[in-house]
Amino acid sequence: MDFGTTTLAFSAGAAALAASVKKLTTRLQLSKAKHWSLSGHARLARRMAALVPFYAYDESQFFRADDAPEEVAARRHAGFMRLAEQYRTRFAETLRRTGEVADGLSDLQFTEAYRVPFQFSRLVRQHLRAGAFVQSSDGTTLTDLDGNRFYDLTGSYGVNLFGYDFYKDCMERGHRLVRDLGPVLGPYHPVIADNVRRLREISGLDEVSFHMSGTEAVMQAVRLARYHTRRSHLVRFVGAYHGWWGDVMPGVGNPIRAHETYTLKDMSEDSLRVLRTRRDIACVLVNPLQALHPNASAPADSALVDSARNAHFDRTAYAEWLKSLRQVCSERGIVLIFDEVFVGFRLAVGGAQEYFGVRADMVTYGKTLGGGFPVGVLCGRKDLMRRFRDDRPVDVCFARGTFNSHPYVMAAMHEFLGHLDTPAVRAIYRNLDDIWDARAARLNGRLREAGLPVRVANLSSIWTVLYTQPSRYNWMLQYYLRAEGLALSWIGTGRLIFSHNYTDADFDNVADRFVAAAARMQEDGWWWLDPATTNRSIRRKILREMIAHRVPFGGGQGKR
Ligand SMILES: Cc1ncc(COP(=O)(O)O)c(C=O)c1O
Repeated sequence: MDFGTTTLAFSAGAAALAASVKKLTTRLQLSKAKHWSLSGHARLARRMAALVPFYAYDESQFFRADDAPEEVAARRHAGFMRLAEQYRTRFAETLRRTGEVADGLSDLQFTEAYRVPFQFSRLVRQHLRAGAFVQSSDGTTLTDLDGNRFYDLTGSYGVNLFGYDFYKDCMERGHRLVRDLGPVLGPYHPVIADNVRRLREISGLDEVSFHMSGTEAVMQAVRLARYHTRRSHLVRFVGAYHGWWGDVMPGVGNPIRAHETYTLKDMSEDSLRVLRTRRDIACVLVNPLQALHPNASAPADSALVDSARNAHFDRTAYAEWLKSLRQVCSERGIVLIFDEVFVGFRLAVGGAQEYFGVRADMVTYGKTLGGGFPVGVLCGRKDLMRRFRDDRPVDVCFARGTFNSHPYVMAAMHEFLGHLDTPAVRAIYRNLDDIWDARAARLNGRLREAGLPVRVANLSSIWTVLYTQPSRYNWMLQYYLRAEGLALSWIGTGRLIFSHNYTDADFDNVADRFVAAAARMQEDGWWWLDPATTNRSIRRKILREMIAHRVPFGGGQGKR
């Protein structure tokens, strides 16, 4: 080899090494930006989920999962059976109809199976079935088929912002507005023009597209971001829900791997570093609801195996985080998408953009915006919303949907948006946080005074229940709350959603019932505590049980 060849070989080697080091550094940065929890490792989480065996506690284990003394277990048993009797008599017709339909309704089977940690679910489903039917809504209440009235804390998954009567009006007035056109699809009813105008104003963005659900609006946002940036990957933050489409749900729940999704740590400099260095990122999705519990999934009672649930909202810190994200996305040509399907219109008329003082490139809305009907909306910058290229006529970004812009949905949306302009509603928004923060503080004060190991944390009118001492039975609270006339969604105490028509008097009634339910649960012994118990010791014990049930002949206790 002469000198020239040697130099060439050396340079090529050095370049290859530099490229490998760069690749390795980028890979390491990505690993560093992953959250330590399983939710931060989608692939591992899916594999682990496939390993967890089903087993159910028998009656004696059910009441002594924490090795409580016999006397405590007996109190729990008596309380459980008393509740079961109450459910059986008070909710008789509702439960009968639920039982009739459950066998053929897969959605219901799923929600019924995931109300409590699975070890407890068999006995709970046998004795404390939650009724799936209601016959009417009124003010802040729902009435079941037996005539029982419940304060509604489900918020209809966040749809119910102004009270059910308001949406009934939107639907009825909207119906009158478009009934001459009926269900015609394709051509628009003129009412749509006003919706487009208002949505452009509210979002501060140039264009609008209509879809049938929040999931679809998010799909379209991501597809357009990929089309325009010509990059493949989306970034989502740990725990954030963006609908059930595969790419935004890369872990448990999706049977196949999402290859083009990065799940990064929320509120972390490590994640900003990844955004600054990688070239394959088309967009970043932000669900501002995560401000209440960054890096944690929606808090469902089925996962309430101990008391580690945590939540705390810091508006300033989250606004700072969004500002940093905004800056990096602008620098790197990454599309910043706020997914406001849940929080849109709840925090401010201008949604999270207004509330946190940060502008996104695209915003998705849904839920309440349909005025009671199903909807998804995408608002975006003109250059990002275009579905074709002037210089490449066949290279389009396709999106359709038979029921997009359905006249009835558009008309109810028109009524909803019109309502936002009224002085009374503007006034509601002015001191919204003060009202809800004060209510949360009041309830926490009462819980503290009563010596109950329960607290609430809130992001405005979206609340979650926290537990202050280690326990295996916190999920039982949802059944005591129902018995006191509080309606919860299937995820239980993880998410209480208030509508903004709750008066102080309504709220005080809810607070009375909440405290009464927790006090009953305490009397019945569920929060008995062995001082040696910690959340970690609880999780270790459950892990040991799971391992024992994976071993052949390990005493697996059959089917659900
Ligand atoms: C933030 C967010 N994005 C998207 C969705 C999906 O909306 P939909 O259920 O209408 O498909 C939801 C639903 O809860 C949501 O909360």
